[in-house]
Amino acid sequence: MPQLIDRFGRTVDYLRISITDRCDFRCVYCMAEDMTFLPRNQILSLEEIYTLAKTFVELGVKKIRITGGEPLVRKGALELLSQLGALEGLHELVLTTNGSQLVTAAPILKAAKVKRLNISLDTLDAKKFKELTRNGDLKNVLNGIDTAKKVGFERIKLNAVILKNRNHDEVCDLVQFAIDNALDISFIEEMPLGIVEKHNRAEAYYSSDEIYADLAARFELQKNNDNTGGPSDYFSISNTQTRIGFISPHSHNFCSTCNRVRLTVEGRLLLCLGNEHSVDLKEILRSPNFSSEKLKQAIIDSMQIKPEKHEFNVTEQPVIFRYMNMTGG
Ligand code: GTP
Ligand code: 5AD
Ligand code: SF4
Repeated sequence: MPQLIDRFGRTVDYLRISITDRCDFRCVYCMAEDMTFLPRNQILSLEEIYTLAKTFVELGVKKIRITGGEPLVRKGALELLSQLGALEGLHELVLTTNGSQLVTAAPILKAAKVKRLNISLDTLDAKKFKELTRNGDLKNVLNGIDTAKKVGFERIKLNAVILKNRNHDEVCDLVQFAIDNALDISFIEEMPLGIVEKHNRAEAYYSSDEIYADLAARFELQKNNDNTGGPSDYFSISNTQTRIGFISPHSHNFCSTCNRVRLTVEGRLLLCLGNEHSVDLKEILRSPNFSSEKLKQAIIDSMQIKPEKHEFNVTEQPVIFRYMNMTGG
C-alpha cells in the first residue's frame, strides 16, 4: 500500500538521491568555476543513505535514482549501489552520471542491478565539450558510453542541456548520434538553480519548441505516450529504437503528475526541485533518541508540504540559491 500521498492526491513512489556534491566537471549551467564543497560531517554517510533508502522503499517507493554531483566520484558509491540493488520491494535502481568513470564502472553497475543509465552529453565537439564542462574530456565520455552499451543496460538515455549560441546548432547531430547508438535522448531547458557567473541564463534560453522545430526539419517525429515516471515528453523516430524526450520546466509544466521527492547530499528531503520546502532527515537520523518509527512518520508528514508546482523564471535573478549538484537535477 502506498503511504506517501500528498495534498493534491499525487503518490510519491520515486526518490532521487544526490550522494555527493562533488564532480570532476564544472558545467557552466550547473556550477560556478570556483566551488566550495561541503565538509564530510555535513553530508550523509553511505550507511545513512542506505537507511533512508530502505525506509522510503518500506513506505512504497519503487524507483530510486542515484545522482550527484557526479555520483561515481564518491568513494564507496559502487558498494552502496550494490546494497541498494538488493533492496526487496525496489523495482528500479537507476543512475544519472556525467559518464567520466563509466569505462571502469559500467560492468560493476550492471552487476549491482542498476537497470538504466542517464548520461549527460551536451555536445559532440571536443573543444566545446571542454568549454561547457570547463574540464571534461569528450573522448573519455564517449568511451564510457560505448562500454555501457556493450555491458548492456535495459536502456541508456543521453541528457543534453541546450544553450543558445553554445550548442543549439547540434541538436540534430546529437539525435543522429543517439540513433546510431540505439540510445534515447532528452533535451533539457536550463533551470535557474544557483548563481553561475560568466553565463547569462536569459540569453542562453533555447526552448523545447525551438528544438522540436529544428529536429522536425530533419527527422520524422511521432508522439509517444511512454512514461518512465520522469518529466520527459517523448517522441519516437520512424524505423529507429530512439526516443526523444523534452524536459521543459519553462515552456510545458509537468508538475501535476509529479511523483518524486529528492534527498539532498546534506540529508534534506526536498519536496520539489523548484521550491525550498524541505524536511531535515539528517537531524532525525542523528538525534540521540532516533527511532525508525519517528523517521517514517516525518517522511509521511512531509507530504503535507509538497508544493503544487515549481516557479522558475529565467529572466529574473534566481530565487533558488542551491546548485543542481546538491540535488542531482
Ligand atoms: P527518468 O527516470 O529516466 O525519466 O529520468 P529523468 O529524466 O527524470 O532523470 P534525469 O536525472 O535524467 O533528469 C533529467 C533532468 O530532468 C533533471 O536534471 C532535471 O533537469 C529535470 N527534472 C527531473 N525531474 C524534475 C522535476 O521534478 N522538476 C523539474 N523542474 N525538472 C526535473
Ligand atoms: N538546468 C537544467 N539542467 C541542469 N543540469 C545540471 N544543471 C542544470 C540546470 N541548471 C542537468 C545535467 C544533467 C542532469 C542531471 O541535470 O546536465 O544531465
Ligand atoms: Fe557535474 Fe553534472 Fe553539474 Fe556537469 S551538470 S558539473 S557533470 S554535476
